[in-house]
Amino acid sequence: MSTGYLFCSDPLAAGRPDPFFAAEVACARRSGGETALLDHDALLAGDTEAALARVPRDSGPYWYRGWMVPVSRYEELDQGLRARGCGLLTPAPDFGRAHELPGWYDVFADLTPRSVWRPLPPGTPPSGPALAALTAPLHPGPAVVKDFVKSRKHEWDEACFVPSLAHTDKLSAVVRRFFELQDDSLAGGLVVREYEPFVPGGEARVWWVDGEPVLTTAHPDSPAELPAPCLTAVRPAVRALGCRWVTTDLALREDGVWRVVEVGDGQVSGLPAGSDPSPLFDALTLAGSGR
Ligand SMILES: Nc1ncnc2c1ncn2[C@@H]1O[C@H](COP(=O)(O)OP(=O)(O)O)[C@@H](O)[C@H]1O
Ligand SMILES: [Mg+2]
Repeated sequence: MSTGYLFCSDPLAAGRPDPFFAAEVACARRSGGETALLDHDALLAGDTEAALARVPRDSGPYWYRGWMVPVSRYEELDQGLRARGCGLLTPAPDFGRAHELPGWYDVFADLTPRSVWRPLPPGTPPSGPALAALTAPLHPGPAVVKDFVKSRKHEWDEACFVPSLAHTDKLSAVVRRFFELQDDSLAGGLVVREYEPFVPGGEARVWWVDGEPVLTTAHPDSPAELPAPCLTAVRPAVRALGCRWVTTDLALREDGVWRVVEVGDGQVSGLPAGSDPSPLFDALTLAGSGR
C-alpha cells in the first residue's frame, strides 16, 4: 500500500500545488509517497465535493498537508474522502485532540502553562465578572490570551498579553480586542494561560510520528534559532495523546525547565523557511504504508 499526501492546490491554478508547499510536495514524492490535490478554499466554503474533485477514487490513505482547517471542516474532509473510497491517516477526532488546546491540555498539564478555557462563538467576549470567575483557578499574575488554536501574538500588548489577572478591566479590554481581531475566525472559544518567563533564543518545533521524534526544526517565527530541547518528559505525553503525527513547540523557561508552549496537528504545522523536511517525509511515508 502506498502513502498518499493530500496537498492544498494553488488558488490561482487548481491543477498544481500551492507554491508555498512545492518543496514539500517534491520531498513527499522523493520519499516514495503519492500526492493529490485539495481545493482548500472550497473545503472552507463547505463544498467538500468540489474540494475533492481532483482526488482519484479509491486512492490513499492520505496524510493531509496544508493550511489550517477548523475541526468541523476536517470532519467533512474525512467523510468526503471516505465517500470516495479514500481515507485519512489521522481520523477527525485525533485531529481535534492535537489541534485545539482543550484536546491536548490534560495530557500535557504538567509540562505546559496552567490554562483555563470556555467554548464561545465569535463576537461574544465574556463580561468582566465572567472573566474573573473563569480565571479564578489561575495565579493572579501575568497571563496570555488566545483561542483554542491561535493567539494574536503580533498584537501582543493589545490583544494577547495581560500584565496582571488581578486587574479585571485590563483583562476585559485585551479579551474584547482579541475577539474583535479574530472576528469570524475565532476557533472554539477563549483560552487564558498563566504567563511563564522564557529565555530568548526561540522555540524548537519537534515533529513526532507514531510517538517518535523524527525531526526538530526551529519555530517558523524564528527560523535562524534552533534550540536543542530535552524530550524526556515530552515523549510519554505525546504517546499518551495517541495521535499519529503531531508537533510540540518547546521553550526554555528561565529556571532551566523545557516547557511545551503548544501542541499541534503535524498536518497543519508550519515548517520554518530553509529547513530540510526529508526525515519527516521519510518517516511519514513509512508510517502510512503500514509497514
Ligand atoms: N503562557 C505563556 N507564557 C509565556 N509566553 C507565552 C505563553 N503563551 C504563549 N507565549 C508566547 O506567545 C507566542 C504565541 O503563543 P502560542 O500559544 O504559540 O500561539 P500561536 O498559536 O499564535 O503561535 C509563543 O510562541 C510564546 O512566545
Ligand atoms: Mg505558537
